[in-house]
Amino acid sequence: MLGNAMRTSLRAAGRVAVVKGRQQAVQQVAAQAKRMAAPAAAQQVRGLKTLNFGGSEEVVYERSDYPQAKYQEMFKDDTLCMLGYGTQGRGQALNLRDNGMPVIVGVRKSGGSWDKAIADGWVPDENLFDIDTALSKGTVIMYLLSDAGQKMAWDQIKPHLTKGKTLYVSHGFSIVFENDTGVVPPSDIDVVLCAPKGSGTTVRNLFLEGRGINGSIAVHQDVSGKAKERVCALGIAAGCGYLYETTFQKETYSDLVGERGVLMGMIQGAFKAQYDVLRSKGHSPSESFNETVEEATQSLYPLIGAHGCDYMFAACSTTAQRGALDWYPKFEKALKPVFEDLYNEVENGNECRRSLDINSKPDYKESLEKELAEIQGSEMWRAGETVRKLRPENN
Ligand SMILES: NC(=O)c1ccc[n+]([C@@H]2O[C@H](COP(=O)([O-])OP(=O)(O)OC[C@H]3O[C@@H](n4cnc5c(N)ncnc54)[C@H](OP(=O)(O)O)[C@@H]3O)[C@@H](O)[C@H]2O)c1
Repeated sequence: MLGNAMRTSLRAAGRVAVVKGRQQAVQQVAAQAKRMAAPAAAQQVRGLKTLNFGGSEEVVYERSDYPQAKYQEMFKDDTLCMLGYGTQGRGQALNLRDNGMPVIVGVRKSGGSWDKAIADGWVPDENLFDIDTALSKGTVIMYLLSDAGQKMAWDQIKPHLTKGKTLYVSHGFSIVFENDTGVVPPSDIDVVLCAPKGSGTTVRNLFLEGRGINGSIAVHQDVSGKAKERVCALGIAAGCGYLYETTFQKETYSDLVGERGVLMGMIQGAFKAQYDVLRSKGHSPSESFNETVEEATQSLYPLIGAHGCDYMFAACSTTAQRGALDWYPKFEKALKPVFEDLYNEVENGNECRRSLDINSKPDYKESLEKELAEIQGSEMWRAGETVRKLRPENN
């Protein structure tokens, strides 16, 4: 047990940490505002909102359309209630707080999020509450529990969604698959979506660097007549730099396909297949890893990110270019049916049901960790640990 003196000193240390955290945040915001000031002013006169994406015109909203003073004014009579403090809830809540928005956090006291929020300077009974209390104070309910958690907690949330309030989500999942989740919002409230296209950690890190992440926005119900305007402002205040318009359904389907496909599932599958073939033909673990992962992530993929795939091809030898040009159609042919199957499984709701079933089990975190540990413990990724240590920056 802690003695009184120890408790007092821990409380004092906690207060110092909170104050330091706030001071750091204020300094970061000031630095960020300074960095943003010049480009924002330049962009404000640009007036260009429709951009040509490979031949199709699309509307894009950006930070200069929603300067800080504007969104602070728009939400000055609101209380933004961030429910959930996972990676995405945390990133958005901290950005909103640093942007001077009236945001509170609502999480259950029994989970890990409560302590995580306190460590970030949220103060119990001031701007950190249990879910019911936060809901009773909020006018914009930012529903950022895990997607399975959203289904489980819906009966607790719904009674608080009274006329005039707004329901904000960062993934259309719960609402699009309403037959499986039961998440059907009342018809007399605005329901909007802003989905940053990246992890919550990236949402936060880019914000601290003075940059904004791409985000998708959509309106499911517009009772106020201002839903789109408001979700754009919220998205920018939460850390997005550019906002692309979509629908709840399109955001949900493309997101689920992307993470199962090229972004995560396919990439691990492709890495593993090539690595295993090289190993089976007698190549060493280091050679197999270097030719499969290290060169991809350290040398070639950054070139794709900066200038596109043709640029990456052109930066390689003519031998490499000839081979890649001959072989990519074969991979495309082999993979297209898999992507079609994947899209169908998303569209027919099977992927949703599988995710809800498994991620609603009491031990779902342990199961996920076990499967991730199997990947981490595989020869390929253990070889990767050693290869990474040899990078110049790690020496
Ligand atoms: N992660 C991303 O990169 C990303 C990107 C874009 C959009 N999104 C979307 O953002 C939303 C949040 O995602 P996330 O990744 O931040 O989720 P997450 O990390 O899985 O967040 C879990 C949060 O939900 C809470 N929670 C889970 N089940 C609960 C329950 N039954 N009752 C009360 N609280 C519960 C957890 O609280 P405890 O700590 O108490 O368990 C924690 O605060 C999702 O809709 C997701 O699709 C995520």
